[in-house]
Amino acid sequence: MKGNVVVGQSGGPTAVINSSVAGVYAAAKKLGVNKVYGMVHGIEGFLEDKICDLDEYLADEAGIELLKRTPSAFLGSCRFKMPKIEGHEDVYEKVFEIMEKHDIECLFYCGGNDSMDTVKMLSDYAAAHNKSQRFVGVPKTIDNDLPITDHCPGYGSAAKYIATSMKEIIRDNASFGAQKPIVCIVEIMGRNAGWLTAAAALSRGSDCEGPDAIYLPEKVFDMDAFMEKVKELAAKKSSVVIAVSEGVHIADGRYVCELGREVAVDAFGHKQMSGTAVMLAQKVAEETGLKTRAIEFSTLQRAATHLASLTDINEAFQVGHDAVVAANEGKTGMMITLDRNGDDPYQCGTSAYDIHAIANVERKVPDEWITADGTNLTDDYVKYARPLIMGELLPLYVNGTPRHLVRK
Ligand code: F6P
Repeated sequence: MKGNVVVGQSGGPTAVINSSVAGVYAAAKKLGVNKVYGMVHGIEGFLEDKICDLDEYLADEAGIELLKRTPSAFLGSCRFKMPKIEGHEDVYEKVFEIMEKHDIECLFYCGGNDSMDTVKMLSDYAAAHNKSQRFVGVPKTIDNDLPITDHCPGYGSAAKYIATSMKEIIRDNASFGAQKPIVCIVEIMGRNAGWLTAAAALSRGSDCEGPDAIYLPEKVFDMDAFMEKVKELAAKKSSVVIAVSEGVHIADGRYVCELGREVAVDAFGHKQMSGTAVMLAQKVAEETGLKTRAIEFSTLQRAATHLASLTDINEAFQVGHDAVVAANEGKTGMMITLDRNGDDPYQCGTSAYDIHAIANVERKVPDEWITADGTNLTDDYVKYARPLIMGELLPLYVNGTPRHLVRK
């Protein structure tokens, strides 16, 4: 590779998205790339020529180790939709102008479905206008909903946090066994795909029975059936813990969290989802008189690098690394996928796949992994997800809290 490279982060952060930046940096430097730039706030910042030089942070091994243990998007993220090319050529020309200004030959973009759309649009524009710059997507999303790839970096760590926290919540909720039942509702991110909520099932084991019910957005949410189920459970148990996706919706398509209120919408038309657990807990309390508690994992589930999965950290690094290798081989308009080669022992390789088959496509939890009554996950799901949460990388503690790498 003769020119410089730039890496950007986009969409909701994960606990390991920075590990992918570390992977891009390490691979590019190994190949002798002079400058590895970071986009400050993704393509939105790049369009304003906001970049940083990663040598300032990562030139020694300690920087890379710290970055791997740093949550959130170290470079800054954005939710910016590239406009359609026709009529907006100026926006695209601007990207290439900035790339040329800094002698940038390859652009790597870490993100989910929406961010892969950016990779698709830029590589399409380059192909149509005879530009030599290359664009490679680096998968990342706690939602685990990118197609083709076996799973997405970021998912394993969020799933580990959810499984661990569910175990802790189930223990806590069971403390007051002799009193009236307590119903605890836990809301988990994931928008329209239930992968992350499904991870609540990973709390099941010899020391924990797991949640009493798990509601995914893949199934229409029936409020009456839900209330029936809660009453049935509360008649039998003193502690009821239920996991629900932020994206559960009723038969007419409305999300449970938007029933009776307006919700904000982002640049991609996604509704701001929050408040499902509070809403359901209130309804249960009103209808049953039972004590309820609503827990929304919210940001915690994607920022808990202190509980990240080592498998996830390593794979996030690998996809960043292999994106550079792919670009060095001349590939463009592709995303790196994780390809599972075996479960026992778990093994995973990577390849590069056409971005057109990936951008804007949402992969859902397969029906056969959801139990017949629609409120739990089968052992096949557990077999798929368990390897992804394995292993730990200890934070570097300073003054009693984990140390992070922060951009100046
Ligand atoms: O796409 C990742 C994600 O974390 C979703 O699970 C969630 O619905 C969304 O981002 C939240 O977005 P924001 O942080 O912009 O509110």
